Order: sequence, then structure tokens, then C-alpha cells
Amino acid sequence: MSDLYLTITVFRDERVLARTLAERIASAVAERPRQVLGLATGRTPVRLYHELGTLHARGSADFSRITTFNLDEFWGIPPSAPGSYRAFMEEHLFRRAGIQADQVNFLNGAAPDADAECDRYDNAIAAAGGIDLQLLGIGTNGHIGFNEPGRELASRTHRVVLKESTRRSNAGLFGGDVSRVPKEALSMGMGSILRARRIVLIATGKSKAKCVERLVSGPVTPKLPASFLQLHGAVEILLDGAAAQSVNS
Ligand code: GLP
Repeated sequence: MSDLYLTITVFRDERVLARTLAERIASAVAERPRQVLGLATGRTPVRLYHELGTLHARGSADFSRITTFNLDEFWGIPPSAPGSYRAFMEEHLFRRAGIQADQVNFLNGAAPDADAECDRYDNAIAAAGGIDLQLLGIGTNGHIGFNEPGRELASRTHRVVLKESTRRSNAGLFGGDVSRVPKEALSMGMGSILRARRIVLIATGKSKAKCVERLVSGPVTPKLPASFLQLHGAVEILLDGAAAQSVNS
């Protein structure tokens, strides 16, 4: 029963997935230019972001009136640091798609007070009218944003201690050196994420097959933060064949 609220689409490969989703996002923005988009980092959305950049470069998409909020940021490094998620987004999306700094909202990993920074962010999301479309990836342990598996999940934006496996999978941003990956981060909470009007989760590659299967068919549990998406009502899951291999259709 749990998959009643989830729509799953399997694409031939990640290129087709990225291109199809980029076109959908561009046409949704053409229809309603003042959309608020929630954005994710990680290797998975890179192709999508490049496709959005290509549509912008061709004059087929205009992102000049959107507002963006990113899910998370490392704690303890400034936005200008090369490994920051802010730097990642500049490189892969903002610069390519003509999205200016005043359209972008980001958690500041160098803010003087983490709790105040998290409150500021939740207030900014509310002041923008909430998130229209939240894009998500998924960690191999089922994390969403930086909401790590545990006994309980935070609802609001909060400071988190990262799992070793999560630090390892982010080492690429820090020259492959896991010891340079910050031990903590700030992340939108599951409640903040679930308040988005629509959610699109993308997952590609066989390393995601198991957590996708648990997300779709398993119980809702903080041991798999992504499972809370079953409660939302407007979630689309876009997969390539490898990520979909364990999902019963
Ligand atoms: C990171 C991010 C998540 C992302 C996930 C998967 O830790 N905080 O938002 O979805 O890992 O990353 P990837 O797409 O590289 O597998």
C-alpha cells in the first residue's frame, strides 16, 4: 500500500532522465516564472543541472525570476570554500543557467551561530511562500539532504553530525581526502522538506537500488529517512534501470 502516493518512472538511462526532467522544469518555470525551487547537491543531479544550463544558453529557458533554496551545507567552511555546496551549485548550475546571487538562498556554514542560522533559513523559506518543487537525491544509507538515519528525525532545519559513509561519499569535493570533509553540516529537516508542494527524487546507478527499494516498499522509519516521502502525497521518483532493479513493478 505504501507506494500509493509515489509515482515511479524508469528511464532508459540517466541522460534521458536528465534531459526529460530539465525540459519539464523549464516548461513549469515558463508557465509560472516565480517558482520557488528546492535544490540538491551530489553527483546525481549534475547532468540535470548541465541540461538546464544548456536550455538557458540556447534561449529555451529563462530562470531569471525563480528563487532557489538548497537543502544543506557543510558546517565550518565559508560559502566561498572550494568544497562547499554553494561552490558546487555555482559551478554546476547557477553560473550556467544565469541564476543570480540575489535569487539564491543557502545555509551559511560559517555563520556565527548555527541555531540562529537554521531559524533564519526556515523563516526565509516561509517568507518566500514555501517551496513549489523540491528536487532530491538519496544517499546510499537512505539519507535525504543531510538527514541521516537514526532513532529520530528533526523536523526543522538543524545542525547534524555526518556519518563516516556520508563523509566518504562527499570526499570528491575535497580532493578525495576524507579527513578534509567537515564532520558536521546544516540541513533542512524532514518536516521542512515534506512541506514542499511537489517533490521529485532522482536516483541512478546500482548503488542506489537497495535504498530505493526500501524507500518504495519498506516501512516508514527514521532508520531510512527517505521512507518519510511515502507520507507526502505528491512525490515522483525518477530512476534509471540500475537504480530500479529491485523495485517490483
Ligand atoms: C549528499 C547530499 C545529498 C545527496 C546525497 C547523494 O550527501 N547531502 O543531498 O542526495 O549525498 O549524493 P550522490 O548523488 O552523489 O549519490
